[in-house]
Amino acid sequence: MSGKVHVMDHPLVAHKMTVLRDKNTSVKVFREIVSEVGMLITYEATRDLPLTTKEVETPICATTAPTLKGKKFAVVPILRAGLGLVEGVLNMVPNARIGHIGMYRDEETLEPHTYFCKLPKDISEREVMVVDPMLATGGSAEAAISELKQRGCTTIKLMVLLAAPEGIKRIQDAHPDVDIYCGAVDECLNENGYIVPGLGDAGDRIFGTK
Ligand code: PRP
Ligand code: URA
Repeated sequence: MSGKVHVMDHPLVAHKMTVLRDKNTSVKVFREIVSEVGMLITYEATRDLPLTTKEVETPICATTAPTLKGKKFAVVPILRAGLGLVEGVLNMVPNARIGHIGMYRDEETLEPHTYFCKLPKDISEREVMVVDPMLATGGSAEAAISELKQRGCTTIKLMVLLAAPEGIKRIQDAHPDVDIYCGAVDECLNENGYIVPGLGDAGDRIFGTK
């Protein structure tokens, strides 16, 4: 069975994604909106976090009320562009640990190359959310998830802003246990491996490098 694809079905996300697509959006606003959409997707992606109950005294009476079970959680951005999503995740899950996987896509072959990997020591005990704004061919996310599995991770989700059908298929084939949460699914990839209509190069737009 393939992992599920959860496409955000919310007017706020739809509106913000359009701001991200607009090539005239400034670096400042782009960065802010990436973080906001990251927060909104995290809200959806954490729907299944386990709850327990605790006793509390309200100003009116004592009661038993739900509280997070405190399952260990980690967010792992794929550098560089994934960094833009971390703040949004932390707004929702402030105690999350953070791992980093550095990858760049060869512009000719589109194959990912890993140049950095630093993860929390107990990563294998944590629920992991891999974050990257773009799922294009899926090569980078596939390799990042494989790296995490090699280090013993068993519960992994993938969060992206934009996904191409090609990238979704690659993740579903390689990692059928991983659910994908995304802001929108686009039409296809162009001959350079960019998502169409897309939003361009996410890293360049977040960091203002072009
Ligand atoms: C972009 C993006 C993803 C990758 C997606 O990163 O942030 O990591 O491309 O493409 P794929 O699905 O075909 O692998 P890039 O390699 O441009 O590096 P950057 O984040 O440093 O800009
Ligand atoms: N990486 C990006 O930043 N944008 C794309 O459209 C594809 C890969």
